[in-house]
Amino acid sequence: MSKNILVLTGSPRKGGNTDKLAEAFIAGARQAGHTTVLYTTADKKIKGCIDCQTCFKKGTACSVPDDFNELAPLIEQADMVVLATPMYWFSFPTQLKAAIDKFYAYLISQKTLKIKECVLLVSGGVDDAAKFEGIVRSYQLIAEFMNWQDSGIVVVPGLHAKDDVLKTDGLKRAKELGKSISM
Ligand SMILES: Cc1cc2nc3c(=O)[nH]c(=O)nc-3n(C[C@H](O)[C@H](O)[C@H](O)COP(=O)(O)O)c2cc1C
Repeated sequence: MSKNILVLTGSPRKGGNTDKLAEAFIAGARQAGHTTVLYTTADKKIKGCIDCQTCFKKGTACSVPDDFNELAPLIEQADMVVLATPMYWFSFPTQLKAAIDKFYAYLISQKTLKIKECVLLVSGGVDDAAKFEGIVRSYQLIAEFMNWQDSGIVVVPGLHAKDDVLKTDGLKRAKELGKSISM
């Protein structure tokens, strides 16, 4: 069955390496027959979770009136989530991290999500892929904790200028991963 894939991107640099990786993945996933929804967290205003523990108690997923409440229905409709992100300080950039933090709403309200699997697409400046260990491990622990199957990780090192990914096999790998998502 066709999957509804939510692609959360984290780069504030429009058309940069992360956006290109996300587009390549989406092209592959669509080719495989899936539906994709792209959500650019850097274009949105999502504040950090304040641990008020009032999720879903005031009529919205998050009681803080920010853009998470437009993202929430997309999360609820998704079968799979893709985190497409630049690596900032060996971790997720603030814009994407704020959205990830607010998945907490579903934990404390014990609302079951349909999401069963996830993917990580990550670009970074360092040449050594081993230096992505922190963000990759963080993603893996999130997947394990949420009981999501890790359906693949694409790490693309050595990217500085916004088109650098074009000089690598990163887009090919991202597209192939999209194509490999099973029905
Ligand atoms: C604030 C900031 C922090 C960064 N931190 C790291 C880092 O810790 N490790 C790394 O390899 N690259 C780091 N980079 C480089 C980016 O991850 C890299 O250039 C990436 O390809 C940018 O993706 P984009 O073109 O989608 O914005 C950082 C860049 C910025 C702007």
